[in-house]
Parts: sequence; C-alpha cells; structure tokens
Amino acid sequence: MRNFILKEKYNTLIQSLIDDFNNSHSYKYIMGPDALCLIEILCEKMNLKPGMRVLDMGCGAGFTSIILAKEFGVTVFANDLWSCATENYERFVKAGVEDRVFPFRAEAHNLPFASNFFDAAISIDAYHYFGTDECYLCDHYAKLVKPGGQFGLVNPGLSKEFTNGLPEKMKPFWEPNMYAWHSAGWWQQLWEKTDLVDVTCAQEIPDGKSIWRMTADYDLHDADIENYLTLVLMTAIRK
Ligand SMILES: C[S@@+](CC[C@H](N)C(=O)[O-])C[C@H]1O[C@@H](n2cnc3c(N)ncnc32)[C@H](O)[C@@H]1O
Repeated sequence: MRNFILKEKYNTLIQSLIDDFNNSHSYKYIMGPDALCLIEILCEKMNLKPGMRVLDMGCGAGFTSIILAKEFGVTVFANDLWSCATENYERFVKAGVEDRVFPFRAEAHNLPFASNFFDAAISIDAYHYFGTDECYLCDHYAKLVKPGGQFGLVNPGLSKEFTNGLPEKMKPFWEPNMYAWHSAGWWQQLWEKTDLVDVTCAQEIPDGKSIWRMTADYDLHDADIENYLTLVLMTAIRK
C-alpha cells in the first residue's frame, strides 16, 4: 500500500486532538475509513491554492479541515451535523487555525452559505448520507460553488452495483443505510445528467478496500469475498 505523507506529517497534532476527544466523551472517537488518508488522495486530484474558500461538507471532528488549512493555505468553512461546532472550534484553536477554519453546524438541506461563495467543496465519507437523491446537487449543493470551481468527494462505495441483491455472506453485517454506497459510475451518472457540472474523475481508489479496512467495518469486509466494497472518488468542475 502507498505511503500517506500528510497523515505522517500531521500525525502528532491529530493524535493529540483524538486523545482529547476520547478523554472528554463517554464514547470513543470512531473513525470510518481514515479521513487523513482520504483527504490526501482527494487533494492529489484537485487544485487547491492559498486563499481559496473551501467548504468541508460533513467535516465530522474537523481533522480534514485543519489539514486543508495548514497544508494548502485555504480558508475552510467546516460544516457538520452531528458534531458540535463549539467543540470543533476548540480543536481549531488548539491546532492554531481558528483564523482560517470556521465551524458551522447545519443540515445539508439548510446550509447558511451564499450561492457562488466557494472556490471548492470537498466531502469525505459524508456526501452519501444526504446526496444520493436526484435533487440534492441541483437544489442545494452545486450552487454553493462558483462557475469554474471544484468539487471533490470520497465515499465508501462499491466496485460494481449489486445486480443480484446483497451477497448472502454480507447480510449479517449489513445495515439499511449502507444502500447509499454506490459505484463510481453510479455517482458519475447522478451528477452528469444534471448538466450543472463536468465530472473530471470518477474512480475506485486503488487499494480502497484495504485502506478502508485498516480502521473500520472489519466483519463486513471479511464477508465481502466478491470484493464489492471499495472507496469511490469523484471530482467535478461547476459549469
Ligand atoms: C462518517 S462521518 C465522516 C466525518 C468526517 N468527514 C470524517 O471522514 O471523519 C459522516 C458525517 O456526515 C455528516 N452528515 C450526515 N448527514 C448530514 C446531513 N444531513 N447534513 C450535514 N452533515 C451530515 C455527519 O454529521 C458526520 O459527521
């Protein structure tokens, strides 16, 4: 498997923030696929430059937002639903990025941002929670990014759609909301048919299954003997 340079570079800082989190909550900070690996893979496909305004949509505890600000010099609007904006702000202060990363707590269909405000919108392991319906891109998401601006997302996904239903061995570990996991081709079609964006990349991440399995969903991965599970990456430009 490849090396992850950003994960290595920011490991001490992020680990101390995770330790703080684990010490102050009754539950542990649970990661899905490692967001620090995914943000690095995604940013290699994007063109982020200092001073850009970037939406980190579904930022969770905000670790990807911290890395975006520190590594690329962008200003980040870190939005999440389940995480507390005040706690995210405290993390941004501890990371020394509170002047460049702004925490928000808003539901994806009720975002407080102006149209054409962002140079880019990224989403790591979150867009599938709200973005699978036909109308989400058209009615809510596309307009946030200015024409020529960039979109990037990475989701848990599938190497191919289940044409014969869910494989029997995976059933004991499957939860209904996992039906929001789809193939790169499925996502590409969902976005392309809106004619609002040009999809510039829609692909499985090489070693996606192994990267995902490093931190989460072990039983499900072991049951996935046909290798359906993978990580899916998509980038697009707003028309
Ligand atoms: C699996 S977590 C990923 C968090 C983070 N991006 C990461 O990779 O560690 C999914 C995130 O999506 C956010 N989310 C889910 N549904 C949402 C919605 N309807 N509006 C805004 N955010 C939502 C949740 O708040 C949650 O933090």
